[in-house]
Amino acid sequence: MPVEEFDTNEPHIILGRVLSSIPEYSAKLYKSALFRHILITGTTGSGKSYTASKIADRLSRDLKIPVVIIDWHGEYQKLLPYHTTLNPREFPLQLFTGEPDDLSILTSIFELTPPQEYILEKILKRKDFVKLKTIDGLLETIEIFPEESTWFRESKLSLHRKLSVLSREEYSDLFKFYEPTNVTFNKLFLELDKPLLIDVSKIIDLSIKKLYASLLVKRIVNYATKNLKQLAVIIEEAQNYLSKQNPIKPICEMLREIRKFNIGLIVVAQSISQLVEDVMANTNTKIIHAIKSKQDLEVIEKAVYMEHSLLSLIPYLEVGEAVYSTISLKKPILIRIE
Ligand SMILES: Nc1ncnc2c1ncn2[C@@H]1O[C@H](COP(=O)(O)OP(=O)(O)O)[C@@H](O)[C@H]1O
Ligand SMILES: [Mg+2]
Repeated sequence: MPVEEFDTNEPHIILGRVLSSIPEYSAKLYKSALFRHILITGTTGSGKSYTASKIADRLSRDLKIPVVIIDWHGEYQKLLPYHTTLNPREFPLQLFTGEPDDLSILTSIFELTPPQEYILEKILKRKDFVKLKTIDGLLETIEIFPEESTWFRESKLSLHRKLSVLSREEYSDLFKFYEPTNVTFNKLFLELDKPLLIDVSKIIDLSIKKLYASLLVKRIVNYATKNLKQLAVIIEEAQNYLSKQNPIKPICEMLREIRKFNIGLIVVAQSISQLVEDVMANTNTKIIHAIKSKQDLEVIEKAVYMEHSLLSLIPYLEVGEAVYSTISLKKPILIRIE
């Protein structure tokens, strides 16, 4: 039964094989679907990262699309035979660019209260801000910040405490304080003929890891909208950026807004019910591996129309099997990633 609507000459990659189809045929992911974002979900061990690595490999090889992977657990070296790696320590990120998003990212990650955010915002807006030069300079400025009222003191102290992790020796080479240039980005993207792995797994402190990874996604996408024709970004363990409880707003906005550009986000997450609704709403293609949780299944049921017989298979899918929903298909189908 032909379920594809697309002209098969359109650029695409093969994901694997469609199950229980006679004759057998391949499951395809079209380039146009990539740029409308992809969600890969399923319980731990269901095959998400394996699937993402196959997509990365084929986008790069077959379609020559630059691919960046934010490797949360440091597992892609093994998954991808063909890649380039980048050590975060050799690629320090600019903490403040003057954009309001920087403050928004810091506020989410360090869970700043409104007064703490207010103080930081005031400091960031100062004309002589650039002169602070280092994290220590920023921390000192917080310390001596004039106390406008009594609640200030407590807020200043806790803001100082929260941000002081940034000044730890072991993290000092992850961030540049203020340096308005993207020379390094140009170098990074000069020859992206292989998927680029950025392994953040060795950053121990969770806030610092989230901060580095979020700024990285943000800066890469910003750079790409201006300088690249196309790009795919794989965001592993997306609950760290897009959780309902503490979402990083600029990353949520990115899902909504970057459709105009040829930038495809591939969001990999185990528990969809714990993510902001933007993820379901703004990823056109869904690759759903085995899900055991009722809450997660309910989210899928609400968001993706499929026959009950298919839905009821999701808890029992084997590793590497998935329900696949994408624009080129009339209805979701069962596939095996190969
Ligand atoms: N399509 C597949 N074919 C063969 N092996 C697979 C497939 N998908 C996953 N695996 C294997 O199953 C294990 C778990 O997969 P992984 O992608 O790490 O799961 P997840 O990211 O969902 O936790 C890995 O050892 C992986 O190599
Ligand atoms: Mg994984």
